[in-house]
Amino acid sequence: MNVLLLGSGGREHALAWKLAQSNGLDTLYAAPGNPGIAAHATCVALNATDHAAVVAFVKDHDIGLVVVGPEAPLVDGLADSLRAEGVPVFGPSKAAAQLEGSKGFTKDLCRRADIPTAGYVRVNTLAEAQAALATTFGLPVVIKADGLAAGKGVTVAFTKAEAEGAIADLFSVPGAEVVIEEFLEGEEASLFVLTDGEALLPFGSAQDHKRVGDGDTGPNTGGMGAYSPARVLTPGLEQQAIDRIVRPTVDTLRAEGMPFSGVLYAGLMLTEQGPKLIEYNARFGDPECQVLMLRFQGDLLAVMLAVAEGRLAELPAPDFSDDPALTVVMAAAGYPGTPKAGGAIDAIDDAEATGAVVFQAGTRMDGEQLVASGGRVLAVTASAATVGEAQAAAYRAVDAIRFPDGFCRRDIGWREVAREAGTEL
Ligand code: AMP
Ligand code: GLY
Repeated sequence: MNVLLLGSGGREHALAWKLAQSNGLDTLYAAPGNPGIAAHATCVALNATDHAAVVAFVKDHDIGLVVVGPEAPLVDGLADSLRAEGVPVFGPSKAAAQLEGSKGFTKDLCRRADIPTAGYVRVNTLAEAQAALATTFGLPVVIKADGLAAGKGVTVAFTKAEAEGAIADLFSVPGAEVVIEEFLEGEEASLFVLTDGEALLPFGSAQDHKRVGDGDTGPNTGGMGAYSPARVLTPGLEQQAIDRIVRPTVDTLRAEGMPFSGVLYAGLMLTEQGPKLIEYNARFGDPECQVLMLRFQGDLLAVMLAVAEGRLAELPAPDFSDDPALTVVMAAAGYPGTPKAGGAIDAIDDAEATGAVVFQAGTRMDGEQLVASGGRVLAVTASAATVGEAQAAAYRAVDAIRFPDGFCRRDIGWREVAREAGTEL
């Protein structure tokens, strides 16, 4: 079967790498792809916002499955345009992708389905926001832009001034929609669950590091590293999260006529009262996907096709290696501000000779030279018997790479490494 993969990041490189190992794959096309993805796929220029062009490409190239990597085309309804033409798609409809596209939509759904999450109000004006801050919430308080914001729309405000600054910022844009939330305390973990709208298949867990600096300091990013599994999400807590959060979400969406098909990425806070939903994403995480794919032992194409065709109930539980995997993101200097473009990257082969897998994100070829072309540039990924060993293996590979304009955190996985070593505070 021919497959079209949409996207160009480290997540899509990991998906391409795994799809390329599937028995049923003939040709993998990627749009737009990147130089790393090009090792596994034929990269083509296709504008995902031009639905007619994507549909035409699918017909011309006998594509049997379209895999949508990032959220924007899903929120934009690309999966609907393809399904309308009878094309199997891995990824939810526009209506179901509101789980990621509108935080207010998700909070209202949690209220209807009695799903544990932070208390909240939706506000549409600065005055409403100020009133809610004054009457309903203490500190800290969490302030979120309703729509997609590439990881930048959330402020956890510890002072009144920060909270007021955040709402003033958001309402400086006309027509802003904002959610104000109770602050949840606990450790975060991400749970991935495949669903075809009815059946559920838990598909691994991970923890990521959102802050740019060591010790989880500095501004938020799309994610500077991750590891899988998230052992804090014990089998008992995972079952609670499925029974109280994911199952009611999937059932409610189906009952309301917008079944979710694809992967649900539940961002959870493990609180003293049990897991609570922080947010949903409607696609795999980046860089969480990189560690999941390193651990997944099955046939990704077969699994994604079963999701797309509504046959998920037929599949056995997925086979994940017991060995944890860990990924370190190498970013371009300046990230998460304006990243320095064009920096040369060498010796990826040397890094992979250590046994690691180097997934490419923001890269491009400049003649014969691989160079940086984005904020997050590489995801250097390794697995081993323990998180500590996987961390050491990933940093050995990082240290083999020559990317003078790049940087990375040196402490990815620190919580779990400390737990393994028994030195947790
Ligand atoms: P999001 O972009 O929604 O993933 O939020 C970014 C980060 O903000 C999350 O990973 C959490 O660390 C934090 N966050 C979001 N909502 C809450 C909340 N209600 N309580 C505490 N932290 C939160
Ligand atoms: N790593 C966080 C995300 O993919 O949203």
